[in-house]
Amino acid sequence: MANPFRDLFLGTPNRAMVEAVAPRRTFADVILPLPTRRALQHALAQIHNHDLIFRQWGLAERHDAGMGLVFNFAGPPGTGKTICAEAVAHELGRKLLVVRYAELESQWAGATGKNVAAVFRSAAEQDAVLFFDEADAIAGRRSTMLNQSYEREANLVVNVLLHELDEFPGVVVFATNLAANFDPAFERRIRTHILFEMPGPEERERIWRVQLHERKTPLAEDVDFRALAERYPASGGDIKNAVLKAAQIAASEAIPDAAKRISQRHFEEGIADVLAARQVMGQSLFGEAGAQDPMSLWTGAGGMVEAQDAIRDDLSALAARVVEVEDTMLALPERWERLTAPHAEAARALGARADEMGARMAALEEGGRRERRLALALSAAALLASLAALGVALLG
Ligand SMILES: Nc1ncnc2c1ncn2[C@@H]1O[C@H](COP(=O)(O)OP(=O)(O)OP(=O)(O)O)[C@@H](O)[C@H]1O
Ligand SMILES: [Mg+2]
Repeated sequence: MANPFRDLFLGTPNRAMVEAVAPRRTFADVILPLPTRRALQHALAQIHNHDLIFRQWGLAERHDAGMGLVFNFAGPPGTGKTICAEAVAHELGRKLLVVRYAELESQWAGATGKNVAAVFRSAAEQDAVLFFDEADAIAGRRSTMLNQSYEREANLVVNVLLHELDEFPGVVVFATNLAANFDPAFERRIRTHILFEMPGPEERERIWRVQLHERKTPLAEDVDFRALAERYPASGGDIKNAVLKAAQIAASEAIPDAAKRISQRHFEEGIADVLAARQVMGQSLFGEAGAQDPMSLWTGAGGMVEAQDAIRDDLSALAARVVEVEDTMLALPERWERLTAPHAEAARALGARADEMGARMAALEEGGRRERRLALALSAAALLASLAALGVALLG
């Protein structure tokens, strides 16, 4: 139940941070390689059994931790991770709550953890499937270098996230591109990794078809999806973009609408454009093309992101240092007080001892050997005591 007072103090997720989607796309809209499809079916069975055991059989009321189901959809861009998260929610008859981590990461230090907690609360209230899209940033980020405030903040957020994952009673889906970088603490909480591979020629042919309307889309006689599938090693996302581009080109031909048809050359032009653009953008993280692309210095190899991260790290280190200096300056008068009073006392005592020693030295001139030794020992002891007092004053 919504509670405005609690939201005021604990934070409430705003619209930019999360988007509640009523899922429309289903598994019928997505063509997957067999292992991926099997893994998804298995995940759905797990969710179903989980519901049966914990909700219907009442075991949730007996055991309260670690009852959620966390899945990670891992794979290259455009392989259907987002669409499958939607299909999972559709299958379960639940809403999909899409989390935008970049929005969630508040610019106000310390607020991000609060936002994460608010998102989980909102998902629990709506019984929604929680979907962390592009979760690479979160999943792998707990750092052991705690000397920078930015990293301390990031670790704090990850710790909040781990805690919420433990407590959340529903289904959570992460989507990541680089599964290998997972923080072990996340790894432990993820029940199953589901691998989304690039589609092979068979799947590509079916993806080409599924992107069109089976009755309404006008196709020319020469269209050959098999040839397109074999010739272009594209992802589902690429194919979708190519289809839209081809339709665009066909629609702008200078002939009556009724005569317009999407033909093979339109599809060829569409897919060639998409693949070329992807190469320029350097987004082909998983292909060899991206590595040779000069732009990849900034985008493909994560260079831009790394540079931004480095600058942000430097800035937060600088900010932390300024705060430290400020704190030291503020503490100075107090520390000065603390130092000077006992210090002066000890110095006076030391002076007195020195006087005393001088007097004893004078006495030595006249005294015998036994007295000399005794006087020397006494003076040394007195001096040591004074030094110890000074040490205590300085340290304390
Ligand atoms: N396996 C597939 N079957 C059918 N269509 C697909 C498939 N993969 C991708 N598509 C099409 O491409 C679009 C983009 O896919 P989606 O957003 O699900 O990819 P993604 O894996 O989430 O990519 P990213 O990592 O870039 O977020 C989908 O809306 C769909 O039209
Ligand atoms: Mg996606």
